[in-house]
Formats: sequence, structure tokens, C-alpha cells
Amino acid sequence: MSIHQSVKRVTVPQLKACKGKRKIAALTAHSSVFANLMDEYLDFILIGDSTAMVAYGLPNTLSITVEQIAAHTAAVARATSHVCVVADMPFASYQKSPEQAFENAAYLLSAGGADAIKLEGGEVMAPTIEFLVTRGIPVLAHVGLMPQHVNTMGGYKAQGMDETTAKQVMADAMAVERAGAFAVVLEGVKEDVARAITSKLAIPTIGIGASVSCDGQILVTEDMLGLNGENVPRFVKRYADLASNVKHAVQRYADEVRAGAFPESKHCFGVKSTSPDKN
Ligand code: KIV
Repeated sequence: MSIHQSVKRVTVPQLKACKGKRKIAALTAHSSVFANLMDEYLDFILIGDSTAMVAYGLPNTLSITVEQIAAHTAAVARATSHVCVVADMPFASYQKSPEQAFENAAYLLSAGGADAIKLEGGEVMAPTIEFLVTRGIPVLAHVGLMPQHVNTMGGYKAQGMDETTAKQVMADAMAVERAGAFAVVLEGVKEDVARAITSKLAIPTIGIGASVSCDGQILVTEDMLGLNGENVPRFVKRYADLASNVKHAVQRYADEVRAGAFPESKHCFGVKSTSPDKN
């Protein structure tokens, strides 16, 4: 028997080959439950460093660790069989040197089961991207608004709104392509700049707040499912209002527990059920 199992997941070369053919659909996930529900519909799932905020209630993305991302990546990888699994490199896990980046990225592939990693940075990170790619680690780059730069940017600011940042985002996108990234996330980038980058690059652009001209889109799942409060960025479209459903279900449960209406005999062992088991 061959040691090579038949490949069922969307692969990095397949994602790259989508350029100019069809759009790439991606979302974030950090739990096996959500990843499993999303698996058949998406091309890739990102275990984003936004997990720091949506799973741990932290104020920004800066303090999640490689070990935490690896554990969440493993949960997503176990629960999926179709999507390409992309793990985000946490702040301070790759900026120091290409060697540091390699060690942590390799850990996300070996311990987390990721198929690829994502890291923030353009021209500055290009040597690191090349170091990783030439050693077998596929890289999804991330330029434009880079949330790990929140302190140097003084907030989350759309990029490309003036000539200087427009030129910088373009230079960053071209640099990561040259370095070997298989695709690039454009976050918070002005529409015409995102369009220009998308037509210039031979690799797919994945937009988040960067318009429909990108080759694909990604959102934070909690934002698009309405699980993250009202305070979401303007580029988020809410496809569901799960928070209301969850609150309603939990309220009904608590009311029934307090009223002694749950559990019923059908939910108990050794008691003859008086009604069919329906919800
Ligand atoms: O961490 C994250 O969720 C991201 C976005 C691109 C969705 O980096």
C-alpha cells in the first residue's frame, strides 16, 4: 500500500489556480463544531489570530500564542476533510528572524495539522516568506491593514486612501508575490488600489474590506453570523443573527429549568416516557 493517501482537501496549488477562473470563499474558525459545519462550502478556513478576540475576549490580536493557535488548528483540521486549513502566525512568532518563523510555522503544520500559514507583512517580511516557501511551508501573505500593527498605526485604519499608502500596499503585494506567497490577503484597502493589485498580481488576492474586485473574500465568522455584537467593521455583512437565536434558546432553557418543566420523563433513564421524543 502506498504511504501517500489520496488527497481530498483543497490544496495550495488548487487555490493558486483559482486566479482568473473562480472566486475563493474563506472564513475563519477556531472550533471543531463550526469548522465541521463550514467544511463543504468553503475553499479554505483560517484559524485567525482574531481567535484572541472572538474566543478569548482579548482586546486585540496581539496576545494569542503559537500553542493556542496550534490547538485550535488541530481542532479545525480534525473536523474537516475538504477545506485547506490555514493557520495564522501570532504576533512575535515570526518577526524576529526567518529561522524563528520557520520553527513556529513548522510547529503549526506538524502539531496543528495546518496545510499552510498566514503572516502579516509586505516588503519587510518578503525574505521570511521566501525562507519558508523554499523550505516547504506555503505562505498566505497579509498586507494593507495589518491588525498586529495596531500600536504603530494608532488604530485600525484603511490603507491606500492617500498616494503614499496606496504605493506602499502595491509594493507590499508585489514583494510577497515575488517571495513566493501563494495568495495575499488585502485587508481594509481602498477599492481602486485593491483592483489595481488584483489585476497586477498572478496570485489570488483575498479581500476583507477590499471590495469585490479581489479574487476571493474572507470574513471573521462570528462577525458574519451576528455573534459578535453590533460593533463590527463596515465591511462586514451579517448573514445571520445567531446571537438572538442563542439567547432565546438559553432563556427558554433557564425558564424551563426554574419552572421544573425540563427535564421531562423522556429525558430520564428508567422512567416510562409519556410523549414521543421531539424537540
Ligand atoms: O485573524 C483573522 O481573522 C484575519 C482575517 C484575515 C480574517 O487575519
